[in-house]
Amino acid sequence: MENAGGRVAAIAVPLVVFALLAAAVVLPPAISGGGGSTGASSRERRREHFLRHVPHEPQKASQQLANARPVKTVSVGAIEEGLGRSRAAIRRAGRAEAPAASRRSFKDAGGGFVPRGAIYRNAQAFHRSYLEMEKKFRIWTYREGEPPLAHLGPSADIYSIEGQFLEEMEDPRNRFAARHPGEAHAFLLPVSVCNLVKYVYSSNRTAKLAPLRRHVADYISVVAGRYPYWNRSRGADHVIVSCHDWAPLVSKANRELYGNAIRVLCNANTSEGFVPRKDATLPEVNLADGLLRRPTPGLPPENRTTLAFFAGGMHGAIRKALLGHWLGRNDPDMDVHEYLLPAAAAADDYHARMARARFCLCPSGFEVASPRVVESVFAGCVPVIISEGYPPPFGDVLDWTKMSVTVPAARIPELKDILRGVSERRYRVLRARVLQAQRHFVMHRPAQRFDMIHMVLHSIWLRRLNVRLLY
Ligand SMILES: *[C@@H]1O[C@H](CO)[C@@H](O)[C@H](O)[C@H]1NC(C)=O
Ligand SMILES: *[C@@H]1O[C@H](CO)[C@@H](O)[C@H](O)[C@H]1NC(C)=O
Ligand SMILES: *[C@@H]1O[C@H](CO)[C@@H](O)[C@H](O)[C@H]1NC(C)=O
Ligand SMILES: *[C@@H]1O[C@H](CO)[C@@H](O)[C@H](O)[C@H]1NC(C)=O
Repeated sequence: MENAGGRVAAIAVPLVVFALLAAAVVLPPAISGGGGSTGASSRERRREHFLRHVPHEPQKASQQLANARPVKTVSVGAIEEGLGRSRAAIRRAGRAEAPAASRRSFKDAGGGFVPRGAIYRNAQAFHRSYLEMEKKFRIWTYREGEPPLAHLGPSADIYSIEGQFLEEMEDPRNRFAARHPGEAHAFLLPVSVCNLVKYVYSSNRTAKLAPLRRHVADYISVVAGRYPYWNRSRGADHVIVSCHDWAPLVSKANRELYGNAIRVLCNANTSEGFVPRKDATLPEVNLADGLLRRPTPGLPPENRTTLAFFAGGMHGAIRKALLGHWLGRNDPDMDVHEYLLPAAAAADDYHARMARARFCLCPSGFEVASPRVVESVFAGCVPVIISEGYPPPFGDVLDWTKMSVTVPAARIPELKDILRGVSERRYRVLRARVLQAQRHFVMHRPAQRFDMIHMVLHSIWLRRLNVRLLY
């Protein structure tokens, strides 16, 4: 905050990290902007973290402000210098320059897990990046807003990751929580699109998405008016996390949210404005009863008696092609169902079928994401991803070609031949890697090293590293 330029809303994208960790990177145009100077004095800024918005009770908020004690803030300069050192360290690790030096400095307290093997695009760069994240990354969750529309999301069913993530971020044990916004590298807008749909949309469906968008736009204008952070980056260091199908549409509420912010979405359809360089794929997880479960290896390869399994609704074009071709063929290799028969419909049966299939089909439904990707990994079943324009979760770190099979929708009729064409040896390698990847798809509360929630945070960290605030 040494000079006014520190608050000029301009960002540059150095891309050093993505050049290492992502397969395909397109150089984006730098976003440049005019003013954006904040009205807040530095003293106010020092106090602002005490300010918790209480709707309809502005007096209470200003009273809190008056009682607040000033705290130390960290300047943009210091934050950017720290991130610059992380970028350089990751770049060195990725190129395996001076491996001895970097190995010596790996302080791997707790867990001691070191990523290795073919499932990683660049295991060394990932490890270094992960350790840098643990050392430095701090995320501020805005306090504004009240549950259930903010700070709370569904923690069960197919959108559960949205509520699980918010719950973890609000958990006092969350090691990545910034103590005050001045030290934060990223800012979470803790709005739940699922709960907006549940409480706002359902109260007046004729108004469609407009009230949802208005709510999100209002939220941003409150935090942009109260703190310098949104204007400083034009939203580029802000994050929204949602699993709802409509989240991409709702994020159109604010041009900067849509175009600059890090949108972490289950519905990661590149044909609908999802930009992998800036946005991140959120894994869709079906927690039927909200309980966090452990993955299993399922049956060993020799006991997997069906070639492929799928059960699910006729949702969207890809499912239509899949069910249209394979339903009712009575092919013992292709265990394909629309819905399992009532007698067999117990969730146990669904998972038991996954555990004894060699491959589990994960076609897109109405939207690109399918909870089947995570279900397959949990059942030790090799996922077969059938989608268009869907970057799979953690794809900047995990090399999905090494642990899954991708089949273009146009080749659905050839599925059986394609899967039978995978040699026994190759199959065993793929399956062993699926088991190796399981740790990245497990949830714990509090979150643990390298688990799903921390991997989501790592996706955010990588994208934040790609943004450089000018100062
Ligand atoms: C950020 O910009 C908006 C619109 O340009 C403005 O209303 C708001 O006061 C600014 N925020 C701060 C903290 O200055
Ligand atoms: C629902 O929304 C529509 C469109 O915005 C509006 O015309 C209508 O009055 C609303 N109905 C209620 C009950 O609020
Ligand atoms: C696998 O099948 C063999 C015989 O075909 C059986 O003895 C063994 O118990 C099975 N293993 C599991 C884990 O079901
Ligand atoms: C992805 O977006 C495109 C463009 O809107 C759409 O045609 C396609 O159906 C979407 N994919 C899925 C699975 O919804």
